[in-house]
Amino acid sequence: MNAMSKPSFGAYTVVDHTYDAVVVGAGGAGLRATLGLGAAGLRTACVTKVFPTRSHTVAAQGGVSASLANLGDDNWRWHMYDTVKGSDWLGDQDAIEYMCRQAVPAVYELEHYGVPFSRTEEGKIFQRPFGGHMTEFGKGPPARRACAAADRTGHAILHALYQQSLRHNVEFFVEYFALDLIMDEAGVCRGVIAWNLEDGVIHRFRAQMVILATGGYGRAFLSCTSAHTCTGDGTAMVLRAGLPCQDMEFVQFHPTGIFPAGCLITEGARGEGGYLTNSEGERFMERYAPSAKDLASRDVVSRSMTIEINAGRGCGPDKNYILLHLEHLGAELLHERLPGISETAHIFAGVDVTKEPIPVLPTVHYNMGGVPTNIHGEVLRPTKDDPDAVVPGLMAVGEAACVSVHGANRLGCNSLLDIVVFGRAAALRCAEILKPDAKQSPLPAGAGEAALDNFDATRNAKGGTPVAALRLEMQSTMQAHAAVFRNSQSLSEGVAKMGDVWKKQADIALSDHSVIWNSDLMEALELQNLMQNAMTTIVGAEARHESRGAQAHDDYPERDDANWMKHTLAWCGGDGQVRLEYRPVKMRTLTDEVSVIPPQKRVY
Ligand code: FUM
Repeated sequence: MNAMSKPSFGAYTVVDHTYDAVVVGAGGAGLRATLGLGAAGLRTACVTKVFPTRSHTVAAQGGVSASLANLGDDNWRWHMYDTVKGSDWLGDQDAIEYMCRQAVPAVYELEHYGVPFSRTEEGKIFQRPFGGHMTEFGKGPPARRACAAADRTGHAILHALYQQSLRHNVEFFVEYFALDLIMDEAGVCRGVIAWNLEDGVIHRFRAQMVILATGGYGRAFLSCTSAHTCTGDGTAMVLRAGLPCQDMEFVQFHPTGIFPAGCLITEGARGEGGYLTNSEGERFMERYAPSAKDLASRDVVSRSMTIEINAGRGCGPDKNYILLHLEHLGAELLHERLPGISETAHIFAGVDVTKEPIPVLPTVHYNMGGVPTNIHGEVLRPTKDDPDAVVPGLMAVGEAACVSVHGANRLGCNSLLDIVVFGRAAALRCAEILKPDAKQSPLPAGAGEAALDNFDATRNAKGGTPVAALRLEMQSTMQAHAAVFRNSQSLSEGVAKMGDVWKKQADIALSDHSVIWNSDLMEALELQNLMQNAMTTIVGAEARHESRGAQAHDDYPERDDANWMKHTLAWCGGDGQVRLEYRPVKMRTLTDEVSVIPPQKRVY
C-alpha cells in the first residue's frame, strides 16, 4: 500500500495514497483502462465496490459488435450507418466512426487476450445477427455482426480482462465504495475518497487522473436487467461536483426481460431465430417493422410490445406480457448457443425453452446518458466559448459516460464494444499526457471533508423512513412516469413526485450505525446516488418535447430535428433542483473516409 499520511477528520482516520491514475469501477471499461494504464507504466489503482469478476459486465450475454465479416459481407461503414440510425441521429458521428472502426482490432485484441469466443466450422469467431444491425446501409438483410461466446460473452470478456490486468503492476482496492471526487478550487479533479467496506477505514486516493467506470443506474427503476450494484455512483459524483451529465432522459428498455422477474433474455435469442407473439398467436413485429421484424432496434420492439399489451393483446390471465418462442430452434442449438438463457428461463419463469415460450416484457436495461466525454474519455465541461472544454484530471468510460456513441437508443452488442474501445482510448490518452511518478501538489485543505460529513450524517440518520421504503417509492415513481411511452401530464406528475421523494431523504432511518460491512449505510449512499440520476432523467424527459429513440412522447410523437437535435446537459443541485442546457450534436466525421449520414426517417 502506498499510504502517505493519516490525517484525522473528526471520528475518522483517513489513509492517503498517491497514484498516477485511479480507476473507479472494475467492469469491462474499468478493467480495459486499468490494464492499459498498467501496460503504459503508470502507477495505477483500481477501486471497486465488488470483486472485479462480479461487476455487471458479467451479465452481458449476446455479443460484442464488429464487422469481421466472418459469416457474410460486412464493413465498418455499414456498422457506423446502423449505429447513427439506431441513435436516432442523436449520436455524435465522429465518435461513432471511431468506435466502429476500432471494433475490428478491439475484438481481435480480445481474442488474443484469451476470450473463448464460439467458433464457426472454419474456426473463425462466431457471429450472430442482432437488432438494428443490417447490411448495405440498412437496405440489405441483417448483418451477422455480434461476436459471441455462446450467450455468456460479457462473462468471458470480463474474466479475460481481469486476468490480463493481473499481468501488470496495478493494485486493486476491492470492496471499497467511492464516496466522492476530490476537486480543487481551479476545477481540477485531484482524486477520490472511498470507504473500505471491510474494516470501515476511509481512504483518499490522490492521482493525476481519475477515471470513472462505474456503470449505469438501472436500479433507479423497479424492473431492470441491471445488478443491484448499478446505482450510478460515478454520474452522481460528477453531479455533486457541480458538473453536468448528458442525455439522461434516454433510458433503454430491453424488449425481453423475463416476466415478472426482469432478468435478461438476450437479443441473441431473436438473432438465432426466436420470435415474439401476442395473445392471438400473431407474429406482430411483421406489422411494425416489415423488413427487420423481430430484429428491429430495441426502442422499436419495446414500443411495439407495449402497444400490443395496451391494445389488450397481451398474454396470460392479466394480458400483461408477450411470448418469446425458441422451441422451434431445437435442443441442440439451444444447448450450444443459448445455454445461459435456457437456464435463466427455467429458474425464473419455470419454462423449458425446448418446449414452451418464455413470458417477456420490456425492462430497463441501459442508460444512453452519462458523463459527457470526448473520444479520449476526457470529461467535458462545455462553455459558451468552448463546447469541448475538458475537466483536467477526470475521465469517464463505459455506461457511466456519454461519448456520445449511442445517442437516443443504443444498438445491442454496441455496449461491450463501447467499454473495450473507450477503456483502451482513455488509457492511451493517459499514456500520452501523464508522466509516471510525476510530482503532485498537496490535496486542497480539507479535501473530502464534505463527503465525510455526508457519510457521517447518513450513518447516524435516525428519521422515520427506512432506506428500502424510500428506494421503492423512487423506483415505482420512475417506472410509472418515465416509462416506454411518456406524456406531458405523466412526466410533470413524475417530476413533482420525485421532488417529494427527494425531500424524504431528510427523514431516512438507518438501523445499523457501524462502519464495518454496513449494507444499510451503503444502500443509503447508493440511494443518494440513484436520486441524482433519477431527477436528471425525469426532468430532462419532461423538457424534451419530441419523440426520439428511447424517448417516446405521446404529445409530441414525431422527431423534431429543427428544435431538438441537441444533447441535454443537466446539473443537479443539493436541493434536487435540476438545471438544463443544451449542446449541439456533432454532425461531422472524424476522417474524410466516410461521409456524414444525414437525418432520415427511421424505418426497419
Ligand atoms: O441482449 C443482449 O444480449 C444484450 C446485449 C447488449 O445490451 O448489448
